[in-house]
Amino acid sequence: MKKYLGVNSLEQVYSGIRGPLYEEAMKMKSEGKDILRLNTGNPGVFGFQMPESIKEVFREKMCDTVSYCDFRGVKASRDTILEYHTKNGIKNIDENDIYITNGVSEAANMLTKSILNDGDEILLPSPCYSLWSNCAIMAGGKIVFYKCDEKTWNPDIDDIKSKLTDKTVAILIINPNNPTGAVYEKSILKQIADIAYENELILISDEIYDRLVYESAEMVSIASIANKDTMCVTLNGLSKSHNICGLRCGWMVLSGPENKKSVIRKDIDKLASMRLCANSLTNFIIPAALKDGKTPNDMVSPGGMLYERRKAVFEELDKCDTMTYVKNQGAFYIFPAIKNPTITDDKKMCLDLLHSKNILVMPGSCFDYDEPNRIRIVMLPDAKVMKNAIIDMDNFFKEYTQ
Ligand SMILES: Cc1ncc(COP(=O)(O)O)c(C=O)c1O
Repeated sequence: MKKYLGVNSLEQVYSGIRGPLYEEAMKMKSEGKDILRLNTGNPGVFGFQMPESIKEVFREKMCDTVSYCDFRGVKASRDTILEYHTKNGIKNIDENDIYITNGVSEAANMLTKSILNDGDEILLPSPCYSLWSNCAIMAGGKIVFYKCDEKTWNPDIDDIKSKLTDKTVAILIINPNNPTGAVYEKSILKQIADIAYENELILISDEIYDRLVYESAEMVSIASIANKDTMCVTLNGLSKSHNICGLRCGWMVLSGPENKKSVIRKDIDKLASMRLCANSLTNFIIPAALKDGKTPNDMVSPGGMLYERRKAVFEELDKCDTMTYVKNQGAFYIFPAIKNPTITDDKKMCLDLLHSKNILVMPGSCFDYDEPNRIRIVMLPDAKVMKNAIIDMDNFFKEYTQ
């Protein structure tokens, strides 16, 4: 009998965020330790509530969920998504360009499978949210990482240009970004859109955090400024803006010339119909959620939960000698550097921090980042907890060597 050794296609797939460090933290928790989990962007765990706008739809629609819905999604919900992205400037789209999915995660999976042949190259940012690298690997694509400027975390345009080959088929941006929290400048987006046009690349933009933008940062949806002949895919969802990660509600929008859209649509249709439909109940909440811009806006405004937690982290980080950072303009992450030349192994650094201070953060390497001195901090716990966590980390890093 053939020995079972697992499958080769998943050998390179990894989950840092829910990997060995997380397992160790859970083990410590089961032993009675109080672990502060700054590893996942999961607002519900930290007191962020589902908004009333969504609760109302649940109460009303509970009994409508017994049936499968359309494989692309409920029409009324796709109409609202259409309206939302049209308002954001994406042109020439209709309801057939929209797919409602079980989270952006499922959309990323379907999309990469629908655009990558074996060996096709896809440009991904470094650092990158690992969903995308994993999906690209599973689709048989070859990942080529482009750098981002550590001073602003905007993509490095020259580096992108230097990484283009005749095998490059797509480029991804994550805007606002996880793990850096950057909101990309319009001039940078325009240059990326031009590169995509000149090289006939599919331009993919993960905009799940587009409603979580602070102060004067301007969120521009890249598909709205792309050339009309560029094939664009914009992804979005409600996990973070409406605190409903567990409900799994996302979507993607195809825009660009019809001849290109129809090729991708044909393959996405197969994958979307294969999984029958996205969760019907979450389909129904989309119109109410997208009309409820107040919920995300309140969170990122002065006095709001995200705004105040972020402010507390900055106040404390500004007092630290051990870390440098760039203020996030969107989402709820920062990606500080530890000022310590002895660090060579960031996973070990985070494990040592976990054992010493009961704080779980993710190392830069879990985000396809090469330098060994970065961590991603999730700024979701309340301000006091966040401040104490930064003080603890600073004390730890003051003494730490490898
Ligand atoms: C950039 C980015 N894209 C996608 C996702 C996944 O979102 P969803 O819950 O819609 O699957 C996340 C989750 O953290 C994310 O940070």
